[in-house]
Amino acid sequence: MTIRRVRETDRARINEFIAGQWFSLTMVVRGEAVDLGAAEGFYVEEDGGVTGLVTYRVGGGAMEILSLDSLREGQGTGGALLEAAVAEAETRGCARVFLITTNDNLNALRFYQKRGFDMAALYRNALDVSRRMKPSIPLTGCFGIPRGTRSSWSAC
Ligand SMILES: CC(C)(COP(=O)(O)OP(=O)(O)OC[C@H]1O[C@@H](n2cnc3c(N)ncnc32)[C@H](O)[C@@H]1OP(=O)(O)O)[C@@H](O)C(=O)NCCC(=O)NCCS
Repeated sequence: MTIRRVRETDRARINEFIAGQWFSLTMVVRGEAVDLGAAEGFYVEEDGGVTGLVTYRVGGGAMEILSLDSLREGQGTGGALLEAAVAEAETRGCARVFLITTNDNLNALRFYQKRGFDMAALYRNALDVSRRMKPSIPLTGCFGIPRGTRSSWSAC
């Protein structure tokens, strides 16, 4: 598996990947519209196509992971991308790596906790706010669990 840093020359296909996973290039983070299409990141390419991507931003001595997606789950793609992001955070002197995921994403809650992240905050009704800015966010998430009228977890 080869992990590559996202370069400007990769933008077109990286952005196509993001739009396919997240309905648009805009990610709403705690009420802020963030352009994933301009975010730093690492990706995995297999058989000529992008099969995984992590995006992040660095500021204030911390890295925030904005998105992490694997098209080949259970084969190490997500873990390798998370390791690449954490290594980048260390290189850039970040004291903390954090992210937000939603209450329905039990897979992600397991995935991150098994990799050293813990749950630091609970933002009730966070997706209700996000959905007002991005109506394409589904009302129902993984395992049929309602999203947004419950909570979003912040993992550090
Ligand atoms: C969360 C997500 C990124 C994980 O990606 P992934 O590629 O499945 O991650 P990995 O393959 O590295 O790890 C998943 C599991 O497969 C296992 N695994 C990895 N390689 C394996 C292999 N070769 N054989 C068997 N199992 C393997 C890992 O041990 C891991 O299990 P664990 O979490 O219980 O330890 C992925 O499920 C995803 O894209 N979800 C949708 C988007 C999302 O929710 N993103 C996170 C919120 S930002």
